[in-house]
Amino acid sequence: MTLPLDAWLSARRQAVDAALDRFLPSPGPTPPIVCEAMRYTLFAGGKRVRPMLVLAAAEAAAPRTGMAEDEALALALPAACAVELVHTYSLVHDDLPAMDDDSMRRGRPTAHVVYGEGMAILAGDALLTEAFALMAREPASSDPGLAQRKLHALRVVGEAAGAAGMVGGQAIDLQAARTGAHALDADALSGMHARKTGALIRGSACAGGIMAGAAGPLLEAIDEYARHLGLAFQIVDDILDVEGASAELGKTAGKDAAAGKPTYPARYGLDESRRLAAECGHRALAALEPVQVTGQLPAIVRWVLGRTD
Ligand code: IPE
Ligand code: IPE
Ligand code: MG
Ligand code: MG
Ligand code: MG
Repeated sequence: MTLPLDAWLSARRQAVDAALDRFLPSPGPTPPIVCEAMRYTLFAGGKRVRPMLVLAAAEAAAPRTGMAEDEALALALPAACAVELVHTYSLVHDDLPAMDDDSMRRGRPTAHVVYGEGMAILAGDALLTEAFALMAREPASSDPGLAQRKLHALRVVGEAAGAAGMVGGQAIDLQAARTGAHALDADALSGMHARKTGALIRGSACAGGIMAGAAGPLLEAIDEYARHLGLAFQIVDDILDVEGASAELGKTAGKDAAAGKPTYPARYGLDESRRLAAECGHRALAALEPVQVTGQLPAIVRWVLGRTD
């Protein structure tokens, strides 16, 4: 039976937060200041969208690959933690004075405000690096099939986070903000969003599917679903920057226009941006139809479109 999304999210978030706490480096082998600075932004209360996608995709794939749901969840949990580590690093670096220069994140002063720029850069470096060490280490097993799936998931997350994925998108964002909000045409804007935000969302869903044994049309459907969901996610982020309140967002609203960022509302206006986000949502749902995947993946589309933080 499929749980209501809220109940499912609350149970899975607890599992992810407990696992993050367990998997993170501890003081002793690691200098305490690094541990503290890593945990500061990580445990400040993110929505955990990407780990939820890892787990939802693993759960959705399990009945199709003949794996028990519990086993799929256990196998996907390290990847769920790893994508949250990568995402949190991207936030810490995105907020730096040399990038978006933000002073609030997840309802707290940003890491560089509290620990200084150098330490915030290092905390980001550590979050990123530990993510891949974790995925290589866990789940520990001598099963060659599982080792192959781990390697595949590692590659997918690495490519999503890397130069052609998130880092590439952030680079386009940085360059475009210098030349003005309308400097990107429609394709370039959706392409930037696909990289800076879409890639990791896609990598998350695929990593979950892969750990649960998905391949072929099933994995392609999960990927296509997440491709549309990822674009919807960043369009909604752009809309919330215009319409949302800083207290609810946990970050300073209204910064995109002030910084001349290329965004959907800047290019299309708010109404058309909402329509385009909804269209992406429909496409994400349609991508699942051929493989008849259910579970929480459809409900996550509605969550992403309706979110207010
Ligand atoms: C914010 O991501 C940055 C983007 C990629 C748009 P989230 O909205 O998922 O932030 P948290 O993790 O909930 O803080
Ligand atoms: C961030 O996009 C994408 C990342 C890779 C972090 P934004 O710059 O719009 O994210 P927020 O609004 O600061 O969370
Ligand atoms: Mg940014
Ligand atoms: Mg930003
Ligand atoms: Mg934003």
